[in-house]
Amino acid sequence: MASVSGANIWITGASSGIGRALALQLAEAGNTVFASGRNEAALAGLCAQNPQRLVALACDVSDDNGMEEAGRRLRSMTDSLDMVILNAGTCEYVDNAELDNALFRRVFAVNLFGVVNTLTVAKPLLQKAQRRGHIVGIGSLSTVVGLPRAEAYGASKAAMQYLLDSLRVDLAHEKIDVTVVRPGFVETPMTAANDFPMPFAMDAERAATIILRGIAGRQRVVEFPLRLSWSLKLAALCSGLWYRVAAPRLNRANKL
Ligand SMILES: NC(=O)c1ccc[n+]([C@@H]2O[C@H](COP(=O)([O-])OP(=O)(O)OC[C@H]3O[C@@H](n4cnc5c(N)ncnc54)[C@H](OP(=O)(O)O)[C@@H]3O)[C@@H](O)[C@H]2O)c1
Repeated sequence: MASVSGANIWITGASSGIGRALALQLAEAGNTVFASGRNEAALAGLCAQNPQRLVALACDVSDDNGMEEAGRRLRSMTDSLDMVILNAGTCEYVDNAELDNALFRRVFAVNLFGVVNTLTVAKPLLQKAQRRGHIVGIGSLSTVVGLPRAEAYGASKAAMQYLLDSLRVDLAHEKIDVTVVRPGFVETPMTAANDFPMPFAMDAERAATIILRGIAGRQRVVEFPLRLSWSLKLAALCSGLWYRVAAPRLNRANKL
């Protein structure tokens, strides 16, 4: 159970997976949660679970004009935000190292520019909060070390993480904390199509509980599961072995 309570929270990507589980747990803990996503029917279904606490705010984070309009709708419902959770994300894998510009633009449009669009709306509202503000970004453990086929996804998450690390420095004097969450594998619609092993995978409810514990503690970084995080950090530490011996075994092209 989250110990964040009585806060005004905006979460993107709340229509499924981790974001949906976070929204439900935060609402149950007594927060007012503005829940975003493009799928209005899914948002309506979510909000019906706790209509007192959950408010749908449909938007496409990659649509610059649409996000300005979403900002207007949000400001008509609240004067301030205590927390924004930048969770909306997309994943497309790169096959055979073929670098398709359009694929990279699609992934970055959501995972990086969607975060910029959301923060542009959220920051002035966080600055008006009575309590200390909190920006939470859902990154990925994939940024710890180079992984096969993750050129676009991993790069977008690394860029997002750097953006948030830099903001942490620049917003410290404004009393706004920044948390970067780096999950391993979580069973959600995003990973349902994965045709490779997902070590230490967990369900979205468990992931949300771990994330909310870290958020409540205002941790700078929340990483899980620890066994995967330590394994990847060890790989990064022994990067010669990783890139020469271990990683090539994960690359399906080398198995053909
Ligand atoms: N699952 C994992 O193993 C894993 C691991 C590490 C990190 N993550 C990260 O965790 C976050 C949540 O992913 P998930 O696994 O829960 O996947 P998911 O179930 O597919 O959820 C993705 C969410 O993002 C929203 N979204 C996607 N594009 C959007 C757009 N253009 N505008 C607004 N919302 C958009 C989707 O809503 P609509 O379709 O309604 O727009 C959906 O609610 C992502 O940032 C992902 O990269 C996931």
